Amino acid sequence: MRTIKPPLGGVSVEQFMRRHWQRRPLLIRAALPDVSPPLSPEALFELASRDDVESRLVSQRARRWQLARGPFDPDDLPPRTRRAWSLLVQGVEAHSDAAHALLSQFRFLPDARLDDLMISFATDGGGVGPHLDSYDVFLLQVQGRRRWRIGAPRPPELVPDAPLRILANFEPDEEWVLEPGDMLYLPPQWAHEGTAIGECMTCSIGFRAPSRHELLSGFLADCADSVDGPDPRYTDRGLAPTRHPAALPGPMTETLAGWLADWRPSRARIDEYLGRYLTEPKPNVWFESPPRCPALPAWWARARTRGLRADRRSRLAYRGRRLFINGESIALPATGAALLRRFADTRLLDAGALRDIGPESALVAELHEWFQSGWIQYADEK
Ligand code: SIN
Ligand code: CO
Repeated sequence: MRTIKPPLGGVSVEQFMRRHWQRRPLLIRAALPDVSPPLSPEALFELASRDDVESRLVSQRARRWQLARGPFDPDDLPPRTRRAWSLLVQGVEAHSDAAHALLSQFRFLPDARLDDLMISFATDGGGVGPHLDSYDVFLLQVQGRRRWRIGAPRPPELVPDAPLRILANFEPDEEWVLEPGDMLYLPPQWAHEGTAIGECMTCSIGFRAPSRHELLSGFLADCADSVDGPDPRYTDRGLAPTRHPAALPGPMTETLAGWLADWRPSRARIDEYLGRYLTEPKPNVWFESPPRCPALPAWWARARTRGLRADRRSRLAYRGRRLFINGESIALPATGAALLRRFADTRLLDAGALRDIGPESALVAELHEWFQSGWIQYADEK
């Protein structure tokens, strides 16, 4: 499934993945020659005023970095005539079809790795200072010009007491001015600094990659909520009186240590958790149920002629006989498994694919629930 041309200009995806992904930076001139900003600056400011949207305002005053976190009333933003400020809005793909379509062009990488689309607006001289990120990023210039300077990974030294992580030992090796449509790919840990030349907008296509600690803490918390198997409690019938009440009893530590050391989650449980974990919606995402949803037979009569599509914010994945959607795990039904896998890949079930499925099917009951949860919508719905 590759219906959308990846935005890599003349570079092939295979070449990019082999030579650059997670290895070395790449500047692609005219990666998306006809790009236009997914949102106007005014629409971006409007988004930054919402309390379910993460936004930051970065500026420098008397050479000191300043950081404020949104939401921002558009009137509280500095005037566009003031130099050197930057507004950064995270997760724009959840709120704009154009932003979602732009992010979708990067689906030559797995959804489990794609994180979000951030859009920054900056006035002349604006930027967030020299820094490094823990994740890969594509920096796509969508309006105006920006100078990027980059430096190879080295142990970072940070500017003390700054409200954001600014490198004190930034030593750029290369520098370019990006025009609309140009894009810079950076692997994790590469130092970079983008400075607006006049007013500009930049889209950052961001990635995610769990750390071992993050994964373990989530998994252990999940297991603690529902440990598999029986739940024996420690007993010590026949315990002798003690003269050292603070001493941990040997039999007690042995038994408890054994419980911990012998605890092994099953592979099925691990796989199930991974699917749920990797499709967990972002913390500030709330799905809205449709105001009116007909009962199943009437709903299906409509859905099978209008088709269904995933909500912009829905996360989907599959592995083996399980499908994962928004942090939930579903056993793929025997009939319909291929259809649901294709749905996860294309995020669309067109009317033709649904025509022959009757309302009594388990698949339809599942889709009806997703629809009621706001996870999917009619394909022709705006
Ligand atoms: C920006 O768009 O100003 C910052 C993006 C980044 O450096 O990751
Ligand atoms: Co960065």
